Amino acid sequence: MISQDTIDNHAKLIAFQIYDAIEQKKQNNEHLVLGLATGSTPIPLYQELIRLHQEANLSFENVYTFNLDEYCGLSENHSESYHYFMHHHLFDHIDIPKENIFIPGGEVEPIFLKDYCVGYEKHMQELGGLDIQILGIGRNGHIGFNEPGSSVASITRKVELHHVTKRDAASAFGGFDFVPTHAITMGMKTILSAKQIYLMAFGENKKQATKQAILGDITDELPASFLQHHDNVSYCLDFDIYTK
Ligand code: GLP
Repeated sequence: MISQDTIDNHAKLIAFQIYDAIEQKKQNNEHLVLGLATGSTPIPLYQELIRLHQEANLSFENVYTFNLDEYCGLSENHSESYHYFMHHHLFDHIDIPKENIFIPGGEVEPIFLKDYCVGYEKHMQELGGLDIQILGIGRNGHIGFNEPGSSVASITRKVELHHVTKRDAASAFGGFDFVPTHAITMGMKTILSAKQIYLMAFGENKKQATKQAILGDITDELPASFLQHHDNVSYCLDFDIYTK
C-alpha cells in the first residue's frame, strides 16, 4: 500500500537538500544545475519546492534545469508532453528564468537531431554539469527513457520506447497505439555524471525493478542497476526491498 506520509517525508527531505544546495551556491555567487524527471513520482517534490518558494522565499534565479527526456513528435503544448508537465507542475509557479530551463525538444528535425543531442550534453557541461539529478524508475527498470538494452556509456539520443513503457503510458494517450514510439532521453553516462542522485520509487509496482536495481546484478537489461556504479545515490522508497 502506498504510504502518503512516507512520500511526503521523502519529498520534504529532498526539497530541503535542494533548498540548501541553492542557498550555498547563492552565497558563492554560483548557480545550481538540477536534473529533473517527470511522471507522477516527483510531483510531491515539486509541490514542496513551490511551497518553499512561496512560503520560505526560496528563489530559483540561480538555478538551471535539464530534463531527462521528452516524447518525439509531441508539440510543447501537447497535454502529455513533458514540456507541458514541467511548466504545469513546477516552472509556472517558481521564479526560474525561462532561459535557464532546458527540456529535450520533441519536434527536432531528424537531420538536426544528432547535433541537437550533442548540444544538449555540451550545454550541461558548460554550465558545470549536473549537481543534483532527480529520478523515477519505470517498471522495466528504465531511467529517463533508457530502456532495457541501453548502454552504461549512452549519452543524450533518440530511443525507441519499450512495450512495458508504452503499456504504462497507454491510458494517458487514450490507448497503446497512440503512445509515441520514440523519445529523446539523456543517456546513462549523462545521468551518472551527476554529483548527487535521488531516485524516488513509490508503490508495490515499482518494488521488483527497484529491488533488482539495488541488490541485483549490474546489467543493461535493467538500466537502473547502473546506478550501483555511482557513489552518491539516495534511494527514496516507500517499500522494503529486503522483504518479498
Ligand atoms: C516515464 C519517464 C520516467 C519516469 C517513469 C515513471 O517513463 N520517462 O522518467 O521515471 O515514467 O513514471 P511514474 O513516476 O509516473 O511512475
